[in-house]
Amino acid sequence: MTGFVEKPEPVQVPGLVHLHTGKVRDLYRNEAGDLVMVASDRISAYDWVLPTEIPDKGRVLTQLSLWWFDRLADLVPHHVISTELPPGAPADWAGRTLVCSALRMVPVECVARGYLTGSGLVEYDRSRTVCGLALPEGLSDGSELPAPIFTPATKAAVGEHDENVSYEEVARQVGAETAAQLRQATLAVYSRARDLARERGIVLADTKLEFGYDGDRLVLADEVLTPDSSRFWPAATWEPGRPQPSYDKQYVRDWLTDPSTGWDRHGELAPPPLPPEVVAATRARYVEAYEQLTGVPWQ
Ligand SMILES: Nc1ncnc2c1ncn2[C@@H]1O[C@H](COP(=O)(O)OP(=O)(O)O)[C@@H](O)[C@H]1O
Ligand SMILES: [Mg+2]
Repeated sequence: MTGFVEKPEPVQVPGLVHLHTGKVRDLYRNEAGDLVMVASDRISAYDWVLPTEIPDKGRVLTQLSLWWFDRLADLVPHHVISTELPPGAPADWAGRTLVCSALRMVPVECVARGYLTGSGLVEYDRSRTVCGLALPEGLSDGSELPAPIFTPATKAAVGEHDENVSYEEVARQVGAETAAQLRQATLAVYSRARDLARERGIVLADTKLEFGYDGDRLVLADEVLTPDSSRFWPAATWEPGRPQPSYDKQYVRDWLTDPSTGWDRHGELAPPPLPPEVVAATRARYVEAYEQLTGVPWQ
């Protein structure tokens, strides 16, 4: 069993219907039929939602997504309608809540990669391909690819791994026209974001986007270009040939898999609570990513 150690009880707000408790976000429908997306401070690692929250994480990621949505709006429409708190919502929801168009989600994790690492590197080492796309010899962990590539994955249920799939498989599942639109929009968003991040001293190695349909209009949904959905590396220390330090939950992963915790990530047991110093260091990474990308001090 993996997933939640303990699934949180949804907060009840008059006028909102609770739809879903995701790993990180809670979804509601308001009386207008729009989606209310509340980003919690939950953090997931190794397919578990950890028993310890990271203070401010939901707000940091929501504000970072909004910053990006603004900078991408000319490339692809996004789902945000407003940041206004629904009447009667807890004060704690401020800054972490987005009212969005309720979309018909496309069940594909749209990943763009400009650099080789992670599951891409594993496949490359085996076959010199990533998601079936041929790549040149001589690349190593952290190498920049000759050009960004679209490497879709199927969205897994909680506790399961997302699975990389070929472009052809996506076309079979969602139709050739939608697949082409997803690829075009994903690569356009990635390229814009990569360039913006690079100006700010950050390498955007890869990112995962989700899209949905509003009628027949393809709309960018979910969160965008956050440390939870992307790999950000400090440009100053980027050096192919080794794992790169990153602005994400690597600190948490390293702590969880350190022998001193006694936790087995391949076992059945839930991960232990995070100690305060791991919480503080992880919060600092999220805040640092926000500040470095936006140039705006956090609060
Ligand atoms: N505009 C939207 N309309 C409908 N569903 C959305 C929209 N934006 C995001 N979603 C969905 O909301 C959920 C966000 O919660 P999250 O905690 O990320 O869940 P998950 O555990 O599925 O990753 C995801 O399932 C995502 O596909
Ligand atoms: Mg998600």
